[in-house]
Amino acid sequence: MDIYGMGIESSCDETGVAILKNGKEIITNPLFSQIETHRLYGGVVPENASRMHLEKMPSMIKKAMADFHATAPDEKISYVAVTTRPGLVGSLLMGYNAALAISHLLDIPVIPIHHLEAHFYAAGIQSVMPEYPFLGLLLSGGNSSIFLVHGPGEIELAGDTFDDAAGEALDKAASLLGLSYPGGPSMEKKARDYRNAGEHLDAAKNPFPRILKSQPSDEFNFSFSGLKTSLLYLKQRNPDLATEEAAYFYQERIIEIIIRNVRNAVLHFGIKRVVAAGGVTANTFLREALEKLAAEIHARITVPPVSLCTDNGAMVAALGWHYYRMGNWSDIKKVSSAKEFI
Ligand code: KG4
Repeated sequence: MDIYGMGIESSCDETGVAILKNGKEIITNPLFSQIETHRLYGGVVPENASRMHLEKMPSMIKKAMADFHATAPDEKISYVAVTTRPGLVGSLLMGYNAALAISHLLDIPVIPIHHLEAHFYAAGIQSVMPEYPFLGLLLSGGNSSIFLVHGPGEIELAGDTFDDAAGEALDKAASLLGLSYPGGPSMEKKARDYRNAGEHLDAAKNPFPRILKSQPSDEFNFSFSGLKTSLLYLKQRNPDLATEEAAYFYQERIIEIIIRNVRNAVLHFGIKRVVAAGGVTANTFLREALEKLAAEIHARITVPPVSLCTDNGAMVAALGWHYYRMGNWSDIKKVSSAKEFI
């Protein structure tokens, strides 16, 4: 029997509502990004984010349900999965309340979802999930981590950032260079212009320090705050520094530590399956580097399409399907809601 499930995502600045068939096939996946509003402030303003979720959520649910009824008129939705942690509390509450309302209306369970875990299940949408265990590389505005994923709910942190996340480092660098928010795409564009000009791509000329250069090969951590500080000093010493050149070499250092950590983790754990996710994996320089690495170490590195790498409801519905089948989720209606937001 086919199982249809809804996924709701509202942990930060994207409102996503998706309906999936068997945790894999997208029936509908409407998404609203608040980027244009937050751009005015150079970052996400939590109060504005929650208000916009509140404004957008009803129409997103209406659209998702209309698409579902049009596609599968005789079918029913069996569960509603919702991101409950981590995230901005006000934003999470918008999705959670919507999920509760749907749960009561349709008499179906609510499945609470951990946002970071959900990112890895984007790999199974319209595709085949890698076998467990696999390594999960998460690179977003708030996280730079490597996990060992043993199964739904069984995920172990193997490496993390000591300070800023990769996306945050790009956002802050873009701001220092006078580029627009979010910084990742603006930095990528400048780096591409520099690469296309093609004259001075010598890696030995990179003015930025190598990140965690003496980290042993059995550790997989990240650190980006020093990189940001060195950009600040470089700019002060050299006010004429070309933005394109700075963006290119700064981005190279970020990619370098990511590739080094993934290579070391694959070799250390002997696990040749990697799923990469999070907004930073939209970066085409990084995608190329991961592809090259996969060929070099004979690993399968899955990087879902950009639309599924950034926050979305489909990944939430996909992980929800695994829990639904296992039957071991904690039903929010039966637990303290406060606990779910820790
Ligand atoms: O996963 P995500 O969409 O949202 C959360 O952090 O929750 O990630 C957003 C981050 C931002 O820091 C943004 O600058 C970065 O992903 N990003 C990129 C690119 N597109 C978005 N970083 C590098 N290259 C990109 N093309």
